[in-house]
Amino acid sequence: MRAAVLPRSGQPIVIEQLELGPPGPGEIRVRMLASGVCHSDLHVRDGEWERPGPIVMGHEGAGVVEALGSGVDPVASGLTVGRLVALSWVVPCGVCRSCLAGRSWACAESPSFRHGQDGDGRTRAQRPDGTDVLAYLGIGTMSEAQVVEAAAAIPMPAGTPAEVAALIGCCVATGVGAVTKTADVPAGASVAVIGLGGVGLSVVMGARLAGAGRIVAVDRVAAKLDLARELGATDTVLVGADGTMTAATLRAITSGGPDFAFEAIGRPATVELAIDVLPPGGTAVLIGMTPQGERAGFDVYRFVDGGRRILGSNYGSAVAAIDFPRYAELHLAGRLPVERLIDRRIGLDDVEAAFSRLRQGRGLRSVVVF
Ligand code: APR
Ligand code: ZN
Ligand code: ZN
Repeated sequence: MRAAVLPRSGQPIVIEQLELGPPGPGEIRVRMLASGVCHSDLHVRDGEWERPGPIVMGHEGAGVVEALGSGVDPVASGLTVGRLVALSWVVPCGVCRSCLAGRSWACAESPSFRHGQDGDGRTRAQRPDGTDVLAYLGIGTMSEAQVVEAAAAIPMPAGTPAEVAALIGCCVATGVGAVTKTADVPAGASVAVIGLGGVGLSVVMGARLAGAGRIVAVDRVAAKLDLARELGATDTVLVGADGTMTAATLRAITSGGPDFAFEAIGRPATVELAIDVLPPGGTAVLIGMTPQGERAGFDVYRFVDGGRRILGSNYGSAVAAIDFPRYAELHLAGRLPVERLIDRRIGLDDVEAAFSRLRQGRGLRSVVVF
């Protein structure tokens, strides 16, 4: 199989021909149909997040079931050969503190974080010379095929486009879930969305689904504002060099500040903006992830005095088996126009170019199609 391999964090992607083994117990083999290019892949590619290598990149994918390993019951799991599945980048361990508390999206012991290594430290994919190659978050979707844990593969409702299923696997679950699950935004609330990539635009769609009143979309790229409006934003703010100005503008539009401010970039300055712009009682929902080790600050007196809140939202609090099919049904019902996030269909060879566009904030979601 051909796959986009990152030799190690900080180096360019190399397209390699790998040998993929059969699915082991509890695993399935998936033939990939689509993989989105998400900013989290770029964090790893650029070394902002340190991950082991060599590793097949990609964590936003969908494909069809090709083969089942032993112990995978096609009836109980819905994983029949030929079935379209969206892949989840967290398989809950089921026994850690977060899993036991019903917050499986915060599972710290997930086997997904072994990046496809089994108990013996081996992987399912090898180079021709026999070197093991990891799979990012256990699904390494920038590859013609993968062997994944059966629990990572979520059967999708009939008629779901593969590209849509792929995006549900990361940016849609992350953005829509941040609104509807993590923050549980009530109808009529005012919402600001800072950063309009695949994640931020999914927040806009989620805010519309939730019946938010004002939805103010913020980005430094004008073209993103137009699409945000089409997806439900009632107002838009183009960020210039002066962040203070943005806070004042946001407060003016939302009569004193938004009830909820979503940060979907992952920069200390915009994290601080999301907290700073809140009115008393307001909630900042932090989705964007910074390079590892970065810190942000806020005015503690003012924050506490006004009873404000900060929520970290990982994966939109997704429980994949329940939420992915739900998002697909909403798409099929015309209420979640996920396809609007896609502006380019590319081949594996174009992944590095897609990373360049993402670095510059140009374009929307690039999707690798196989
Ligand atoms: N002010 C306003 N907008 C900005 C700024 C800024 N200072 N810097 C970047 N942006 C905008 C970009 O123009 C782009 O539209 O933020 C958006 C970021 O989108 P993408 O790069 O497409 O990222 P996405 O895949 O949506 O992920 C966003 O969520 O899960 C995390 O790791 C992920 O940190 C990343 C974030
Ligand atoms: Zn992602
Ligand atoms: Zn767990």
